Amino acid sequence: MKIPFNRVSLSGQEMIYLEDCIKRGTLSGGGFYTRASQQWLENYLHSCRVLLTTSGTSALEMAMLCLDLQPGDEVIMPSFTFVSTANAVLLRGAQPVFAEIDPQTLNLDPEDVARKITPHTRVIIPVHYAGVACEMDTLLAIAAQQNIAVVEDAAHGIGASYKGRALGTIGSLGCYSFHATKNIVSGEGGALLLNHNQPQLIERAEIIYEKGTDRSQFLRGEVDRYTWHEIGSSFVMADLLAAFLYAQLERLEEITQARQQRFFNYQQAFLACQQREILQLPCLPAYAQSNYHLFFMLCPTQEMRDQMLQNLRKRGVEASFHFIPLHSAPMGRRLGYNNDDLSITEDISRRLIRLPLYPDLSETEQSYVIESVQACVAGW
Ligand SMILES: Cc1ncc(COP(=O)(O)O)c(C=O)c1O
Repeated sequence: MKIPFNRVSLSGQEMIYLEDCIKRGTLSGGGFYTRASQQWLENYLHSCRVLLTTSGTSALEMAMLCLDLQPGDEVIMPSFTFVSTANAVLLRGAQPVFAEIDPQTLNLDPEDVARKITPHTRVIIPVHYAGVACEMDTLLAIAAQQNIAVVEDAAHGIGASYKGRALGTIGSLGCYSFHATKNIVSGEGGALLLNHNQPQLIERAEIIYEKGTDRSQFLRGEVDRYTWHEIGSSFVMADLLAAFLYAQLERLEEITQARQQRFFNYQQAFLACQQREILQLPCLPAYAQSNYHLFFMLCPTQEMRDQMLQNLRKRGVEASFHFIPLHSAPMGRRLGYNNDDLSITEDISRRLIRLPLYPDLSETEQSYVIESVQACVAGW
């Protein structure tokens, strides 16, 4: 059997909307499906402005521009994240400051964040790993004391919430990814979420979004021509991709439920291993409603994790590790970090394995993955 790590779940409606988009004639941003997808997300998320972007990466880069991050500013984030979280900060000449994660949730540890605050700290970026919320109330309280902005990296987070609030809508800005590996996809794509009542920030974001011009206002008929106002870039998602995205958004609930069922199947199957302390399974705190983006497990040692990866591969099951910590990567070392600066992050990353999890993973396929893991664990 061959079981890929990921498969995009398609309804068939994607082709219909793509064809319709082509017939309508606006393929670039701002067309019918851009408006439809943005409206869909704004209705779903309540009281926040949504700007569809070319990727989750560009949403993060835009967020840092919106906050006018400057050289010398510091931004606290986990080292256990994707490179884009840190690149967005470095592109503004500012400094990423890596903090530890909680070994149960693998999310930013608020106590370590508090320890790393300096007079230069401008932003905290919580990353909601695997679609499970960070401890937002504590992080927001720390940030509020020092007038620090919170930007949520909710690349994994669509459909998930914290105490009933959608991820990405809790800090002042939030970023989604619609990359082909995420729950809801457009190939490449993302969204910037601008929260609460921040009319000035929203006005500025619209300008940055449209290459530094007031084209958004022009398209709404609020000005009679558009011109250059400040620094910006090309962050706008093409309407073609928004058409694909719209078909996916319509199925958010169905996709989340299908993932949930498969997530619980894994959890049930490996519960005995957790009880025998052979595997550590994902922890879902009471405050977090997950979207079941990833199913990961922690093996007792790196050697055992590598052995499991190898055994699964031999049996045709694509499993994967996650993330190579940023602080110990070559770029992290150039920023002045050493491998042992964040020992929890290092340890978790060495022992983590992710299993295939997607709506089109059939019962037979999932049973095969489970059997393959159990066969490997039986030898430990
Ligand atoms: C935590 C995190 N942030 C940001 C991104 C970047 O998103 P994109 O691939 O859409 O640029 C990713 C992508 O996997 C991610 O995992």
